[in-house]
Amino acid sequence: MPESDLEVHLTDADLAAGLRQDARRGLTASPKWLPPKYFYDARGSELFEEITRLPEYYPTRAEREILTTRAGAIARLTGAKTLIELGSGSSEKTRLLLDALREHGTLGSFTPLDVSGAALRHALTDLRRDYPDLHLHGIVADFVHHLEVLPEAGTRLVAFLGGTIGNFTPAERAPFLAALRARLAPGEFLLLGADLVKDPAVLVPAYDDTAGVTAEFNRNVLHVLNRELDANFEPDAFAHAAVWDDEREWIEMRLRALAPMRVRLDALDLEIAFAAGEELRTEVSAKFRREGLTGELAAAGFAVRDWWTDRAGRFALTLAAAV
Ligand code: SAH
Ligand code: TRP
Repeated sequence: MPESDLEVHLTDADLAAGLRQDARRGLTASPKWLPPKYFYDARGSELFEEITRLPEYYPTRAEREILTTRAGAIARLTGAKTLIELGSGSSEKTRLLLDALREHGTLGSFTPLDVSGAALRHALTDLRRDYPDLHLHGIVADFVHHLEVLPEAGTRLVAFLGGTIGNFTPAERAPFLAALRARLAPGEFLLLGADLVKDPAVLVPAYDDTAGVTAEFNRNVLHVLNRELDANFEPDAFAHAAVWDDEREWIEMRLRALAPMRVRLDALDLEIAFAAGEELRTEVSAKFRREGLTGELAAAGFAVRDWWTDRAGRFALTLAAAV
């Protein structure tokens, strides 16, 4: 993979600077919290891929089922020349779109964008091998701050898969969707994967699996803090918790201190205290309903063209056009 096919808008140093700010703000707040993008160092991205293969974690399989049956229709309806993927990770499911768009004869280039340089480099190496004549252009960037770097060529289809839209709070979602809409021309498309509200008996195990992979993924953010901020968290002194919030209709991921402790973050010259049982919020994963999501998209200037679910109705893929 020639590095010239990778554009780095967010260096490790930028990410570390952001982490310093966010960690100081979040860890001195009450309740304590951290933004989710710091999960995804090389180890975190590997653990996430492991999550996608867990029996309890249905979203990846449900979304793949929809893409398998609908990729042809998506290619026909959009006629996209440029496929852009936000939070692309391994871009594994995205291959179904690449194949359908190539078969349709319109696709010229694919631009995966991710905050994780490690995940992106890995994905690009595999894509280069399997799609030797496709123009590939990876971008290491933050989709909250760097949407201006999206390529301008051709009719664009922006894929935002995996239910990652749910990792924003509603207050973050609206400006994100509006900013994305502002980068697109009328008639260009957004393909949005969103997990749906369902029985907590199905939802909670997807975020708290018996093999403990999600727990390890959650604790990985403490390893990131230890490494990047010279901190001395003891990850094993925190329990993983996944809690369904029935009112907000989101899963909340937390790390619960098993005993009272003090943690030093030398790079911040900061010491923080945890009471026994005190929780640090590391992630929300909002679940959606059709009317709500359609309304949010309309408010941002997107018209929903299609709404597809898997046969079991667990997950939705929405094709929306910029109006
Ligand atoms: N789309 C893949 C991966 C989903 S996991 C799938 O459907 O399986 C979420 C991905 O979004 C990770 O690869 C993570 O590195 C990336 N990500 C999280 N926050 C981000 C941000 N602010 N900017 C860009 N990428 C981000
Ligand atoms: N976008 C994924 C989701 O909300 C990310 C994810 C899956 C996740 N499992 C997790 C984030 C566990 C934090 C902890 O489903």
